[in-house]
Amino acid sequence: MRILTGLQPSGKLHIGNYFGAIQPAIQLQDEGDAFYFIADYHAMTSTQDPKALSENVRDLAIDFLACGLDPEKATFFRQSAIPEVHELAWILSVVCPMGLLERCHSYKDKVAKGISANHGLFAYPVLMAADILLYDANVVPVGEDQKQHLEVTRDLVGKINEVYGEGILTLPEPRIRESIAKVPGIDGQKMSKSYGNTIPMFGAKKATRKTIMKIVTDTTAVEDPKPVEGSNIIALYKLFAEEPEIAQMVADFEAGGYGYGDFKQRLFDAYWDHFEPMRAKREELEKDPGQIDSILAAGAEKAREHATGVLDRIRKATGLA
Ligand code: ADP
Ligand code: TRP
Repeated sequence: MRILTGLQPSGKLHIGNYFGAIQPAIQLQDEGDAFYFIADYHAMTSTQDPKALSENVRDLAIDFLACGLDPEKATFFRQSAIPEVHELAWILSVVCPMGLLERCHSYKDKVAKGISANHGLFAYPVLMAADILLYDANVVPVGEDQKQHLEVTRDLVGKINEVYGEGILTLPEPRIRESIAKVPGIDGQKMSKSYGNTIPMFGAKKATRKTIMKIVTDTTAVEDPKPVEGSNIIALYKLFAEEPEIAQMVADFEAGGYGYGDFKQRLFDAYWDHFEPMRAKREELEKDPGQIDSILAAGAEKAREHATGVLDRIRKATGLA
């Protein structure tokens, strides 16, 4: 079973990205033949600053490895290391009806927000389909927001079947991550860099503590019992703390006598300890950029080997070869 997913390099990771995307991908590397890549071509639809793009790619590679991606188990590469993906994207484009892309929410939402539509943004799902189909992926773990792009991918397999015959491409199944549906931000909305409510994964100690201290709460007095239901502090604490610690915090909420500052401090301590081993690994990796490059190069070599085989099959079927 080939498991494939891509992550856009779009800046510093927050804990929503970790629990929603990175951690599940790392758990899956033991379940099959994992292909994980840094979707730098896709990131160009929003980042056209060359320095930012290359720094973000490097940061995401380090983050992924620091969090436990094992290059011995997973094939880890940069999307742009295999530019052949564009050949497949073109072949998919010629069978892709305009309407299929016009219906895509992510495109429509961006246009509605006033982001000027360019061809890259419009064709984004076709490139994503090529990412998936080029490696014969069977299972594609993604967040809910990417579900429609997987439907486009499956529709495109159907179109290729109609035009060029069955069996040329592998039909992928989405695996929508639902376990940690939404990590809340410090204001209680979904944590997202676009809302400015994030807690970074690898932030500086003092600054991150300050961020956690800003978590929005009600104004219950220190001595009074505090509502557990809907508490943002408890929801976040559950991500980091062990069962007895969580039970203790719930009991202290209900008993009264503790201020929110105290609970936020406990949350900060649990957060800091949780990421400590990854932070240490990250610092080590940062000192050795050559190692990152060679991991990505080895991954690209393996990925290319597979891509070339698939592309040969498609070139033959379409009359290009
Ligand atoms: P942002 O909303 O900050 O721009 P992205 O859209 O770049 O984040 O997120 C990349 C992936 O991280 C998403 O596909 C999703 O799976 C996951 N993710 C982001 N924010 C959260 C969150 N608050 N809770 C759970 N998962 C999240
Ligand atoms: N569009 C995905 C996202 O923003 C990233 C991505 C690009 C991807 N190509 C992919 C995910 C292929 C899964 C499979 O999250």
